[in-house]
Amino acid sequence: MSGRILVVDDEKSLLIALRGLLSREGYQVETASSGEEALRRIETGSFHLVITDLAMEGIDGMQVLERARVVDPDLAVVMITAHGSEKTAVQAMKLGARDYIPKPFDNDELRVIVRRVMEGVLLRRDHRRLLEQVSGHYGFERIVGVSPVMRRVFETIDRIADTDVTVLIRGESGTGKELVANALHFRSPRRARPFVKMNCAALSRELVESELFGHERGAFTGAIARREGKFEAADGGTLLLDECGDMPLETQAKLLRALQEKEFERVGGNQAIRVDVRVLAATNQDLEAAVRAGRFREDLYYRLKVVDLVIPPLSERREDIPLLVDHVLKDAAVRFRRDLKPLTADALRACVAHDWPGNVRELRSAVEQALLLAPGPEITPADLFGNGSAPGDMPIAPAGLPFREAKERVVEAFERDFLLQALRRHSGNITKAAEEVGMYRQNFQQKMRELGLSAEDAAR
Ligand SMILES: Nc1ncnc2c1ncn2[C@@H]1O[C@H](COP(=O)(O)OP(=O)(O)OP(=O)(O)O)[C@@H](O)[C@H]1O
Ligand SMILES: [Mg+2]
Repeated sequence: MSGRILVVDDEKSLLIALRGLLSREGYQVETASSGEEALRRIETGSFHLVITDLAMEGIDGMQVLERARVVDPDLAVVMITAHGSEKTAVQAMKLGARDYIPKPFDNDELRVIVRRVMEGVLLRRDHRRLLEQVSGHYGFERIVGVSPVMRRVFETIDRIADTDVTVLIRGESGTGKELVANALHFRSPRRARPFVKMNCAALSRELVESELFGHERGAFTGAIARREGKFEAADGGTLLLDECGDMPLETQAKLLRALQEKEFERVGGNQAIRVDVRVLAATNQDLEAAVRAGRFREDLYYRLKVVDLVIPPLSERREDIPLLVDHVLKDAAVRFRRDLKPLTADALRACVAHDWPGNVRELRSAVEQALLLAPGPEITPADLFGNGSAPGDMPIAPAGLPFREAKERVVEAFERDFLLQALRRHSGNITKAAEEVGMYRQNFQQKMRELGLSAEDAAR
């Protein structure tokens, strides 16, 4: 066994015992006899694991945990808790502790826990390195589909791959619009240049315009410095105007001009800026209806839909479902480091029959949840649709698992759900979500990585 461990306890005899036990296992062990000393060592040393007593004079185990999560999100923390303080132990797990060891403990139990946590730490590091390499390589995810409509989508993508045409990508929420936009950019000659995404919804007109075109210093209250907009940031590359149907009318006029003349001014500025940007637009709105209602400019509508790519809802292309299930299942098994579990024939039938109002995104999260929580060797309809638990419900421990494994899964399901909910409340804005739940942004992001979550997954 290898790895560096810091043991923290204000009881000297326990420190000595733990140091002996863990050194014999092959770990490098250092000790700290107070929370204060622990913090100093965490700041300066590079440990893989901190085992800390919960109740200590002064800085206690919880504070050590909190600090450790900030200094190094990869650093695992295990709590030693006195008999009767299980509640606090659960609290600690919610704050990111990997496990807890109830006192008095027996040596075998301790060895097992430490070994398992340490393996997890080392695995996560390797895994992340691998993921970073892979995503750097391909830049976009595979789009899966066999239905005639999806084949047509692929053909269109191929046909326009090397052009600069503006594309309007339409479809209900979760149908894969962003994925298609990624494919269009990464297959275009602009692939090595920036790909900038801009969400046009849920912002005030002033903000949308300053995001798009940038602003000059003093353009409005709060504009304390000149700022470059997304159009400039995307120069030479591609700009995706996501949720373009929600753009304020006045902004639509400015956008149209920018598209036609390929130049614009920053907000509060009068110097024309020229850029070379390919524009993609996406929306889940019925733009024709918006045009009729006077909420969307007709001229902009025609300017955007030079190529009109419509992705139908999943319920209109059920032949894609088995392939998608297979795809997201394999992907989830890799991301969550779980053994692949097949769906029973019934479960697959239920998937094909289901209406999926949230489309592929909903299918993906149902399959991921099922893989994480299914107690048996196969995924059953009950695992997918069964207990009727809605997002935000406490996950239920699957029956028939050993305590440790059940707990691990429930904690992981809880964490996924908790983070997703927080992200959804803030439209995928990590900074805001982290702030709301009292986590540091870096820790929040780290946790997302561990759980295989992306901000796009949670954008709605
Ligand atoms: N054909 C597909 N093949 C594989 N994965 C898909 C496919 N379609 C969608 N997905 C997955 O489903 C999820 C949602 O896709 P995406 O974000 O592209 O949807 P969207 O149409 O942009 O949704 P929204 O309108 O809510 O922004 C993502 O995890 C994406 O990878
Ligand atoms: Mg999207």
